[in-house]
Amino acid sequence: MYIYNHYMVPNKSLRVLIIGSGGREHALLRACKASPLVAAVSVAPGNGGMEQEAVCYPLNVSDTAAIVALAKKLDANFVIIGPEVPLSVGVVDELEAAGIPAYGPVKAGAKLEASKNFTKEFLVRHKIPTAQGKRFTSSEEAVEYLTSQKFPIVIKADGLASGKGVIIAEDFDQACTAVYDMLDSGCFGKSGSEILIEEFMEGEEASIMLMVCEDRYVMLPASQDHKRVGEGDTGLNTGGMGAYAPAPVVTPEIERRVVSEIVEPTLKGLAEDGIRYRGTLYVGIMITAEGPKVVEFNVRFGDPECQVLLPLLKTDPVAVMYACATGTLDPKTVEFHDGSNIIVVLAAEGYPGTPRKGDVISLPSRIPAGTGIIHSGTVREDNGTITTAGGRVLGVTARGANLAEAAKSAYALISQIRFEGMHYRRDIGARQLRRDREV
Ligand SMILES: Nc1ncnc2c1ncn2[C@@H]1O[C@H](COP(=O)(O)OP(=O)(O)OP(=O)(O)O)[C@@H](O)[C@H]1O
Ligand SMILES: [Mg+2]
Repeated sequence: MYIYNHYMVPNKSLRVLIIGSGGREHALLRACKASPLVAAVSVAPGNGGMEQEAVCYPLNVSDTAAIVALAKKLDANFVIIGPEVPLSVGVVDELEAAGIPAYGPVKAGAKLEASKNFTKEFLVRHKIPTAQGKRFTSSEEAVEYLTSQKFPIVIKADGLASGKGVIIAEDFDQACTAVYDMLDSGCFGKSGSEILIEEFMEGEEASIMLMVCEDRYVMLPASQDHKRVGEGDTGLNTGGMGAYAPAPVVTPEIERRVVSEIVEPTLKGLAEDGIRYRGTLYVGIMITAEGPKVVEFNVRFGDPECQVLLPLLKTDPVAVMYACATGTLDPKTVEFHDGSNIIVVLAAEGYPGTPRKGDVISLPSRIPAGTGIIHSGTVREDNGTITTAGGRVLGVTARGANLAEAAKSAYALISQIRFEGMHYRRDIGARQLRRDREV
């Protein structure tokens, strides 16, 4: 149960609208359902699992006017924005103009995710550690630059590309192909009409999510996602096949450096640049030999990291989000649970390519305490059965005194879930579990 709310928001006073349809938004819905502050919660567009727990409304999430209209129709007094697309087109600016508080940054802040070149220039200007990089719009100039570079090298589409706009090129030829694909063939449309060519950083990756209210913030425990589809980090990149938190690879010493070298200069830089930032700031870091460096920023919770982080908050996450959105955050009041959380994603056949859809999902009738099933790509048919409808179908979460216990519970629950073509990684957290065994 959540500790009392420190923000003087009366119980049952919030009528919440959640925007999005993935596992992250299902986790946000669960948090709202558990919050004493929330009188009512709706979702748009939602998915098959969320439909069992709340009313879901159809919505195109990039249509900001439709979001404002729906919030007004539902008389919502708090909107939580899950994905980056509505943030990048300014939905929070529009909701605020309509007098409705919303969790997430305004359009100017969302640029930290929506433009990799904007972010690189921001990081360099504010002297925040990151890989060296250079902006290009002409393939001729980009290829000329590549002739003098070391490989591997990283080629990034400037704009949003659903996690597919980054190519790690092993040699000159691969790098040229990526440059031509993005700049000349337009394989990412407008998102790739400008690119960033970046130095490759060697190291281990981790994510740190902050819930930000301008100069104040709550730092959530570090987490690690598993991007590759196959065990042992092999195969194609995905939206994320599983995650766990806390991630001890971010030691207290690294955390201190992240705070002083990355987090604080970033929030100060935003203020200096006149950007009022409220909402989640997702800091993707590479732990290099020289220390932590920024790989990327996202301006919303990670999916699946959100699903393991929210349940680690002892303080009501809705109270924290509302405080961020309304400018009243007091970070000292926020507390965390001990122990570890894990999520293992169950994916459809074909994913991360075109996923097979429409398979009936068989779910256990009893979910053990401390575990959960989060829906991502599911629909509820008219007869009530739940079928697959996307690449990442479900996420199985578990909490434990430590990562090993959490993993054991998650995989035990997975053994009771079935759908045709289901695949998942059996090694979520394995790298950390090996380290835990060595000490
Ligand atoms: N400079 C770099 N050096 C090494 N690896 C990198 C570098 N930049 C990106 N990567 C790898 O590519 C992945 C994707 O890059 P990045 O996070 O910039 O893209 P994204 O499309 O915004 O990702 P996400 O979907 O997580 O938001 C990173 O998680 C990291 O594994
Ligand atoms: Mg990103």
